[in-house]
Amino acid sequence: MGKIVEIAGRGQFYLPTAWQDAVDEGEAPKMFVAGGSPNALLKHLRLEHAALITGSWQDMRRLLTTVEARKKELLGYVGQPRVARERARDYWAETYRQALARLLVTATPSGTLDTAPPVEVPYLLEFLGDQRHANQGLPLIVPILAVRHLQEMLGPKYPVFGLDHPLVAPDAVLQPRQQDVYELMQEALLALAPAMPAQIEALDMGCGSGALALLIAATWREKELAVWATDILPEALATTRLNVDRLVARGEITAGVVRVTDGGDLYAPVGDQRFDLVTFNPPWTNAPARTRLEVARYDWQQRTVLRFLAETPAHLKPDGHLLLFYSDNAGERVVASLHTHASDAGLHLQHSWSRRIRVARKWEYIYLYDFIAS
Ligand SMILES: C[S@@+](CC[C@H](N)C(=O)[O-])C[C@H]1O[C@@H](n2cnc3c(N)ncnc32)[C@H](O)[C@@H]1O
Repeated sequence: MGKIVEIAGRGQFYLPTAWQDAVDEGEAPKMFVAGGSPNALLKHLRLEHAALITGSWQDMRRLLTTVEARKKELLGYVGQPRVARERARDYWAETYRQALARLLVTATPSGTLDTAPPVEVPYLLEFLGDQRHANQGLPLIVPILAVRHLQEMLGPKYPVFGLDHPLVAPDAVLQPRQQDVYELMQEALLALAPAMPAQIEALDMGCGSGALALLIAATWREKELAVWATDILPEALATTRLNVDRLVARGEITAGVVRVTDGGDLYAPVGDQRFDLVTFNPPWTNAPARTRLEVARYDWQQRTVLRFLAETPAHLKPDGHLLLFYSDNAGERVVASLHTHASDAGLHLQHSWSRRIRVARKWEYIYLYDFIAS
């Protein structure tokens, strides 16, 4: 849950959960104009107070750069950290980040920044890690730092095999770089196409950038199709929404075909709905996910993928298929455990595709399995 911040004469604003420390409980951020001298502002930040900036977005970014460049002044008030010397570097980096995060801008609930002229940042709240209705309709107050980072992250474009237009993905979401995944997916979709009914309902579990949902929509564009895309991370849902908007605007996919859920754990967002096709490219690495960035890659003791297998038969229509990616990077025993659990859940392997790929100087196999429920 984020924090409600009261701004004199303007009412209540929602500060996203990840940035709660930017404003103290009961504190009313003081207003500063972006184009003015930064000295008074620096003094204000040094005293650990929050500042609400007004003006143009360009001036706000410039102001942030100026404040960043005066790091020593910004941190000058802080005494020696009471942490071990080896942790002092992290302490200073975090203190600096927190000081910069106190430079704030307000935005409408849908993410249009209160700048002159206004700047639109679609799905801002979800991109900052909160569920899309977490603000309960309130306008937002967010760090300029976070918005700038997001804009930078959404700059690079990632071409995806099988799609005519590249996708965007910030660092909290799996960037679709591993083309073998999408090549295997398209091969499987082309192989399954004749067996599919006239009207297809598909689900992309753990949609990330939306690459697989969009690939289904693009590869089966001649079919009557609805593809639900879901993920546990709001950032991933926002990324999928943005990529869907972009590909719809470019005419690559039809509006309404890809439908993004409100998100949640595994099948929770789709209730008891059943599908003709479910696909999941789950986290492959056997390690605990300690940060949001690791949720896309790490699955400690296969907890997520094994739960997913157990729940899947209840979400497949008769003759429905599961296309599941996996890798042997955690060893053959882990792959064998996947097969045992699939079989215990009543899933039968119909076919598999594989590729040998090189990841971080190590060779591994990735597999795409086609299962059906008995
Ligand atoms: C390896 S990424 C795949 C992203 C995308 N489908 C692709 O292939 O490019 C795994 C995705 O699963 C999501 N995920 C992890 N645990 C989940 C859970 N319990 N429920 C739903 N999604 C989950 C992650 O947030 C991440 O987006």
